[in-house]
Amino acid sequence: MKNILVTGGLGFIGSHTVVELHHRGYNPIIVDNLSNSQEEVLNRLKKITGTQFTFLNIDLVDFDKTRQIFSDQIIDGVIHFAAYKAVGESVEKPLDYYENNLGSLINLLKLSQEFRVSNFIFSSSCTVYGQPDRLPVDESFPKLPAESPYGKTKQVCEEIIEDYCKSNPDFKAISLRYFNPTGAHESALIGELPLGIPNNLVPFITQTAAGIREKLNVFGGDYNTPDGTCIRDYIHVVDLANAHIAALEHAEKMDTNYDMFNVGTGKGNSVLEVIQSFEKVTGISLNYEIVDRRPGDIEKIYADTKKVNSILGWKAERDLDNMMKTAWEWQKSLSIKE
Ligand code: WQD
Repeated sequence: MKNILVTGGLGFIGSHTVVELHHRGYNPIIVDNLSNSQEEVLNRLKKITGTQFTFLNIDLVDFDKTRQIFSDQIIDGVIHFAAYKAVGESVEKPLDYYENNLGSLINLLKLSQEFRVSNFIFSSSCTVYGQPDRLPVDESFPKLPAESPYGKTKQVCEEIIEDYCKSNPDFKAISLRYFNPTGAHESALIGELPLGIPNNLVPFITQTAAGIREKLNVFGGDYNTPDGTCIRDYIHVVDLANAHIAALEHAEKMDTNYDMFNVGTGKGNSVLEVIQSFEKVTGISLNYEIVDRRPGDIEKIYADTKKVNSILGWKAERDLDNMMKTAWEWQKSLSIKE
């Protein structure tokens, strides 16, 4: 059984990936410093899979402690999710973002080199594209100047990995550029746990429906889109988790040693379409209002998925209604717990 180090494995995408790795016969080893996750997720993972996974509470910026992981375990591959990800906070605390997101990546690459771990999957983002001048956006599009230190860390991390791959032909790495991950596991035992007031649309919708927030502000109704609201490519977190397994399998056999793939559905939906889907599947009428644009938002983006479909053999299977339904089931399970 192959051991896969999953950094950030108790987080939203990491925890769903742990479940899918387990289903596919891998042994995930979870590293997480709980900076934006809870240890309770480990119990939930056990409930879903019947397995107690190895969990190491380690900060990957600490080289010596991270080195200990590699010397204690046999590691066959790394999926690196652990990173700070709040766009606004990154503007306030750019040094924290550079230190954490770049420092942890560099430590993992150095240790992969020392311990000859050759398969590496990196969590990147469609944010590397900025607002592309035509759509859908494919992997050959240029990276536009990042809007935030957070976005810059994703661009720079991709470049660090690419440079390192050039220096070490035995090392195989893939960056997955996520579009907008949402939804939750169908068990409703794991899902997104935003800290404080959510920045992202779907947690804000579900919290509004649950009565935790009074009203959803829809940022901008005057964009150049059919209904005036922004368009994104929402992707179910379980589909996204499965893309990591497809990437791991591909990394082992690919001819080049670095590649990157969009992970989205290829379909754009507006904010109002997301709200309509939520209302349809839950029967709840959402309290929302169209307000001013949010600074820094791009108007529309969705993925060209030809490359990921053909080379990784991966395709999104779950639609927007399923994302809304599972996100709502997850939200309701939280309310019951409280
Ligand atoms: C989606 C749409 C908002 C909240 C994400 C990540 C970010 C970065 C890029 C990750 C937009 C609208 C939102 C609300 C709203 N990437 N909205 N009311 O902006 O695509 O950013 O991808 O690597 O970290 O967050 O996602 O969910 O914030 O917004 O109207 O209360 O919903 O304006 O059009 P976004 P989002």
